[in-house]
Amino acid sequence: MSKIKPSKGAPYARILGVGGYRPTRVVPNEVILERIDSSDEWIRSRSGIATRHWAGDEESVAMMSIEAAGKAIADSGISPEQIGGVIVSTVSHFKQTPAVATEIAHRIGAVKPAAFDISAGCAGFGYGLTLAKGMIVEGSAEYVLVIGVERLSDLTDLEDRATAFLFGDGAGAVVVGPSDEPHIGPTVWGSEGDKSETIKQTVAWDQWRVGDVSELPLDSKGEVKFPAITQEGQAVFRWAVFEMAKVAQQALDAAGISAQDLDVFIPHQANMRIIDSMVKTLKLPEHVTVARDIETTGNTSAASIPLAMERLLATGQAKSGDTALVIGFGAGLVYAATVVTLP
Ligand SMILES: CC(C)(COP(=O)(O)OP(=O)(O)OC[C@H]1O[C@@H](n2cnc3c(N)ncnc32)[C@H](O)[C@@H]1OP(=O)(O)O)[C@@H](O)C(=O)NCCC(=O)NCCS
Repeated sequence: MSKIKPSKGAPYARILGVGGYRPTRVVPNEVILERIDSSDEWIRSRSGIATRHWAGDEESVAMMSIEAAGKAIADSGISPEQIGGVIVSTVSHFKQTPAVATEIAHRIGAVKPAAFDISAGCAGFGYGLTLAKGMIVEGSAEYVLVIGVERLSDLTDLEDRATAFLFGDGAGAVVVGPSDEPHIGPTVWGSEGDKSETIKQTVAWDQWRVGDVSELPLDSKGEVKFPAITQEGQAVFRWAVFEMAKVAQQALDAAGISAQDLDVFIPHQANMRIIDSMVKTLKLPEHVTVARDIETTGNTSAASIPLAMERLLATGQAKSGDTALVIGFGAGLVYAATVVTLP
């Protein structure tokens, strides 16, 4: 028989507050067209993107996270000292160690919280949210800050016409806390590592510069290119359209609701055509508000869902208490979908 006492956590968890940070610099398609052979019309019609934000020197991963976290904490009504966990999801923080989460935790005024980074690509927000819920229900933290943050402009090859227009920078954060009712549904998540080559970094850090230069990608000036994100666009597109609608439906089923019960749909902002296709496959009724933040934010990977959530609430397109389906998917390939009540 075990001698260990059971953990005592809250019965359930919920999102209490949300905040976002978008870098000051707005980058229209015209700027992208300086480096690739394309057109504003092509980019808009194939991806739905008109503008995105690119971070300046001062807008670091930590700085953007702190701004978003400050707004989420204020929105939640708790104080930073109450935060027992800080989870930062990112693929674009360039210091391997320590985790940026510890610096952020310290700078927002949290007191010795558990703090760590996770790498789950564009599913990063859903992964972080699921961990936060687990920590609260298990009793190892009362309030957990989940941040999705990216500076993908640092990892974008501006001469690659397949990706140059896609990515943006920003941070989104939520505070998750205890609840007497289930306000975060069961997560449907997973990975398909057999497709890991479909979205990847062009060159590993330990091969960049120190590798045989003849094998490294060069830019138009003959210089070795900085590593960037590359993808098999069509393969990812097909996977997202066919497989992710099924995962989204499974998340609805797991929460015990139907599309009719939804108020809001917040899919990862990867491509407007993927969003439109999912809306159709899921047969979402007219009354469901659909996040289409990609038009002015681009694909911000782990930040995309909380940024879209924050904007829907800030603009009055969604309201506190609405029931929302969220789904993230991307490099790995990985995915995570769940139904939540909006803060
Ligand atoms: C990237 C993406 C927008 C490209 O759209 P697409 O319709 O698949 O485009 P394709 O790669 O099939 O190319 C179609 C044609 O446009 C051309 N093309 C490609 N990029 C172009 C560009 N930037 N401008 C103009 N033409 C372009 C291609 O050469 C091709 O021409 P062809 O038919 O003469 O051969 C789309 O594949 C996508 O969004 N994929 C998923 C992205 C995603 O979800 N990523 C996940 C990250 S989480």
